[in-house]
Amino acid sequence: MSSTTLNLPGIRTQPTSVTRKMAAALPGLREIAARNGLKIHHLGAGYPHPEVTNPRSFIERTESWFEHLTRQEGLNDPKELPTFLRDAYAYTDTMGPVGPRESFANVYGSDWGLQIDAGKLIPTIGATGGIALLCSVFERIGADVAYITDAPTYAGFLARATLNQQATIYSIPMDREGADPDALRTQIRNARAEGKLVPFYYTVPDGHNPAGFSFSMTRKQELLRVAEEENILIAEDAPYLYINYNSDRKANRPFIALDPERTVHLFTGSKIGLPGPRVGFVYSEATVSVENGADISLTELLLSESSGAILFHNPLSLLTFEALLRNDDGTVRESLWPLAEEKLQVYRENREIVLGGLTEGLGGHRDHFDWTEPEAGFFSAFTIRNPVVRVDDTFTNGLVEKYGVVVVPMYGFYPNDFLQRSPNAGFDQLRLSFCFTESAGEDRRRDLREATTAFCEAMKKECGIS
Ligand SMILES: Cc1ncc(COP(=O)(O)O)c(C=O)c1O
Repeated sequence: MSSTTLNLPGIRTQPTSVTRKMAAALPGLREIAARNGLKIHHLGAGYPHPEVTNPRSFIERTESWFEHLTRQEGLNDPKELPTFLRDAYAYTDTMGPVGPRESFANVYGSDWGLQIDAGKLIPTIGATGGIALLCSVFERIGADVAYITDAPTYAGFLARATLNQQATIYSIPMDREGADPDALRTQIRNARAEGKLVPFYYTVPDGHNPAGFSFSMTRKQELLRVAEEENILIAEDAPYLYINYNSDRKANRPFIALDPERTVHLFTGSKIGLPGPRVGFVYSEATVSVENGADISLTELLLSESSGAILFHNPLSLLTFEALLRNDDGTVRESLWPLAEEKLQVYRENREIVLGGLTEGLGGHRDHFDWTEPEAGFFSAFTIRNPVVRVDDTFTNGLVEKYGVVVVPMYGFYPNDFLQRSPNAGFDQLRLSFCFTESAGEDRRRDLREATTAFCEAMKKECGIS
């Protein structure tokens, strides 16, 4: 027997993402830190906190929702199998059962002030699946595509978008209001001048991962105007819409509420529910012009893509997700904010501990350090203004070995085109996350306090501040 060696000279291998690199290096670094008698301080992982992802309450909600559905079917014999249960374990179609989509359309639409058509809500495998579906629509024609995105941007988007070797990333800088609308226009035009098809601009406008801030409403409007004038879509990845620390929740609205015909909205149940069941939806009211100039809805394209890729969605995970959208008496919730509040109590507290700790430890050295105060999400972008410090893998690995502090360097979130223009971009920044610790309750608070103190001490030492 001989092994198969396919000849695939055209295939480029993918570089490892910065977050996966850190995750891979962590066990070894952990050992070194332990040998040095150090506790590991988590300020790197972007995972939901275990205290708010305890599946027990999720299982209880599911059970009471299933009891409600059983009662609704009016079965007299307890041994008889309810239809909903049979359906939950059977093949369904690509759209999945209609119930979860209708419930979601009602409650999400009401929270964000838009009318959602449940018939256009396509289930996805989390937001990751939504990104994959959207990219694959534009891969079909085999054209050279340009994806416009922020610098820095979500690593998962870069990983999926660049699987397509015909795709080129054109990135745009951001300031504290959001992405630069003039740069968006320029990059669309640059890409077109280079013969590329420009379908959309991808962003995470609320609780940006990794940039640690939210776009202002004014900036969203400006970006929408450019997208409209240049005739492209805005792909809005919205995992942190409800992980929102703003007291006025109506102050900032998502792109989908501002212009559903221009936006492709990616919802995920990972942060407001649990990440494991992999529930998500892609929603858009956009129209696209296809072969022979025919206008069709983008949903139609997404759906045919999904029926090729997924074909049968998982009805059970959608049905269990629906339990989160229902009250105890089985009626649809009026809002998802009370559900979010169960998570926000932990994240709000974590955010205050980390931001408060940074102010206490480094507030007197603002000339050396700067950090964002996120209105939403899990992350703060931390900047080191010191010419001798270069935040690369060696530096962040050293933080684990010397101080037990785990953070993620920012440079890896910058698309290559941006690094070519500005080779030092991101090498003065790291991503601090306040979402995750291994402990709960008072131990969580203590761990996060200790982590922030250790981080501040590490920063001062590395920058030679006594
Ligand atoms: C911006 C962004 N998009 C997508 C995801 C992945 O979400 P999901 O679990 O829904 O695939 C994350 C998770 O961290 C994220 O931060």
